[in-house]
Amino acid sequence: MDDASLAEVRRVFEQWAVYDAIIQNDYMEHPQLIAQLQEQFPAGAGPLRIIDLGCGDSWLASRGFALADVAHYRGIDLSTEAITRARRNLSTWEDRVELIAGDLLQVTQTLPAGSADVVLMSYSLHHFGPEQKRTVLSQATHLLAPGGRLVLIDQIRGEDESREAYLERLATEIEVNWTALTPDQLQISLDHIKASDYPETASWLAETIQSLQLQPVATLLPENPFYSGAVYRQP
Ligand SMILES: C[S@@+](CC[C@H](N)C(=O)[O-])C[C@H]1O[C@@H](n2cnc3c(N)ncnc32)[C@H](O)[C@@H]1O
Repeated sequence: MDDASLAEVRRVFEQWAVYDAIIQNDYMEHPQLIAQLQEQFPAGAGPLRIIDLGCGDSWLASRGFALADVAHYRGIDLSTEAITRARRNLSTWEDRVELIAGDLLQVTQTLPAGSADVVLMSYSLHHFGPEQKRTVLSQATHLLAPGGRLVLIDQIRGEDESREAYLERLATEIEVNWTALTPDQLQISLDHIKASDYPETASWLAETIQSLQLQPVATLLPENPFYSGAVYRQP
């Protein structure tokens, strides 16, 4: 992301009500992801030190890790509005929560290696270009303690599908099925994906993950036509 792209992503997510409507109407599979996270991190799992890259309002983390023993949660996001909401959503974790408003690419460089048992990155990687995506994933891996897990959830385009074709397919899905959004919210969503979404293919992701020596341990959102998720383990 160059400075202009970063400013554009920040501008959109400062209007958190739009993404909140998307989450609350289950347009990006949050309830399914919460159930799958609870399966991966059940009661008794932990104590976990979690770093959430592009945490948004931490709604996913607060529920996905609700059963586990959370020793520390650090969320990083560009949007101050999202961070304010995250503070409320995470109130039950009290002083175990640290929220940082900033660019995750910069902030991850300042965090100690091996300081996380879980790095969660949900729907934020696709905002970066390919080289920056590699850097972000490498920094995420660097943060993991031995045996730690990376939970990666994001948009994925088909192997032979261009970015434009994927976005056209997603725009149709939004126009047809995101019926609970207001006309303004719909337009903001459509403009946002065109300006800021750069999904990669599954094979790009697999090669990148392999180059970082991470081992796949679970698949999230199997068969979803737009989104994909997985849990990887640091050996
Ligand atoms: C689609 S939302 C996902 C929020 C949350 N992780 C979820 O799954 O519900 C993407 C989030 O990534 C954040 N984001 C995008 N680029 C970022 C960056 N460079 N640094 C920090 N946060 C970033 C946005 O501000 C936004 O809150």
